[in-house]
Amino acid sequence: MNTEKLIDETKQGETLQLKNNKKNTRKLFIESYGCQMNFSDSEIVASILTNQGFNTTSQLEEADLVLINTCSIRDKAEQTVRKRLEKFNAVKKINPGMKVGVLGCMAERLKHKFLEEEKIVDLVVGPDAYKDLPNLLEEVDAGREAVNVILSKEETYADVSPVRLGGNGVTAFVSITRGCDNMCTFCVVPFTRGRERSRDPQSIVNEINNLWNQGYKEVTLLGQNVDSYLWYGGGLKKDFKNASEIQKATATNFAKLLDLVATAQPNMRFRFSTSNPQDMTENVLHTMAKHKNICNYIHLPVQSGSTRILEAMNRQHTREEYIQLINKIRTILTDCAISQDIIAGFPTETEEDHQETLSLMEYVKYDFGFMFMYSERPGTMAARKLTDDIPLETKKRRLNEIITLQQKHSAYRTRQFIGKTVEVLIEKESKRSNEHWSGRTPQNTVVVFPKENYKPGDFVMVKIDEATSATLIGKAVGQK
Ligand code: 5AD
Ligand code: SF4
Repeated sequence: MNTEKLIDETKQGETLQLKNNKKNTRKLFIESYGCQMNFSDSEIVASILTNQGFNTTSQLEEADLVLINTCSIRDKAEQTVRKRLEKFNAVKKINPGMKVGVLGCMAERLKHKFLEEEKIVDLVVGPDAYKDLPNLLEEVDAGREAVNVILSKEETYADVSPVRLGGNGVTAFVSITRGCDNMCTFCVVPFTRGRERSRDPQSIVNEINNLWNQGYKEVTLLGQNVDSYLWYGGGLKKDFKNASEIQKATATNFAKLLDLVATAQPNMRFRFSTSNPQDMTENVLHTMAKHKNICNYIHLPVQSGSTRILEAMNRQHTREEYIQLINKIRTILTDCAISQDIIAGFPTETEEDHQETLSLMEYVKYDFGFMFMYSERPGTMAARKLTDDIPLETKKRRLNEIITLQQKHSAYRTRQFIGKTVEVLIEKESKRSNEHWSGRTPQNTVVVFPKENYKPGDFVMVKIDEATSATLIGKAVGQK
């Protein structure tokens, strides 16, 4: 298992490039950091700028406009972005006409301060203001600074058809909600992405139908908290209580949405991320059981195994309630993979609390995990009310213990597949060998096998012969 990835999934920047439009003359270099939502947002931004005369480029040096879509979730993620800005600064010395814009969560968190702190930045745009980019660029072209960090109650970009960038042409992300109302005390997201709002289900189905027509075979529905998806004609999730009786009776919740998309495209595979334990209903599990094309995989962050810490995190559920949910998942879906997010060293965490996290992991035996050291984020409730009192060495040691245990469990889970035949959707060539394909099972485990005459986008049955903690290795026994 790639430990680096487990420690910080926000490390990788990715440059995106789309097909050139011959009429367009300006060059856009766009790079994304952080969560899948940022990568998905960059596709919306690229789509908006294609209509403004831009083509994307992967050559930083030749760009007229450089955009960096940023992440604030941990301090390290912000430091990575600062380093990138230094690099852009060096390039600007060679190409002085180049404009630099900051998008995403850091833009929202720092606002005008960005322009003062980083002299290279010309443009600061928050996650709900991308439709204003054409106006903001006019300001920048006129030599003025441009900032729009207004968070919206309605914006879901439902009417912008994202241009698929840098992908494999087989799997795509479709966002279904924006923002988060949960207010976990450690988390900066509610401040950077605003209140929770859901997207019109019809626009989601339309986007999925278009993806299918373009040859895509798998869609991941994205949201900070997908299980609390609720469409009643628009508006904030928190205002649903004031909706009319008709709106209430005809509302679409997440279980209904899953049913809708799985029925609309029965040959497409569906995933979703992220689930919040307190919002995941039994109906969602039954809908997953009903549709073969909804993958049996749930990313169910727990953050801590100690009820006391969960309360301090404002997680809205206890250790016992989380375990009950795990039991329910295991009863309704017999072969469902489950993954976690865990934070080590939250303020006041004792050795006992840490042991409770390890014992919870032992109970669930997660298939995968994303594990982090607590990083205090300015403005959050934890930063205001609690002291970041766990020494770095202790945080590191606890994190390492959590990672080591997860590796053991991942190896245990992958071993169970040896000798079995699994369904794999081929995504791309294996990184290690150009004679092998790489794809994933419904449970999200990576499978590598000899290419033969198969191609990306094929669903193939693969007999598993070997396993590492992160990868299954096998041989195709036929098309699905
Ligand atoms: N420090 C460490 N990890 C954090 N996460 C969110 N905020 C912080 C923080 N301040 C982690 C949580 C979340 C994942 C996306 O990032 O585990 O589920
Ligand atoms: Fe942050 Fe909690 Fe919302 Fe996830 S659910 S984005 S951790 S506030």
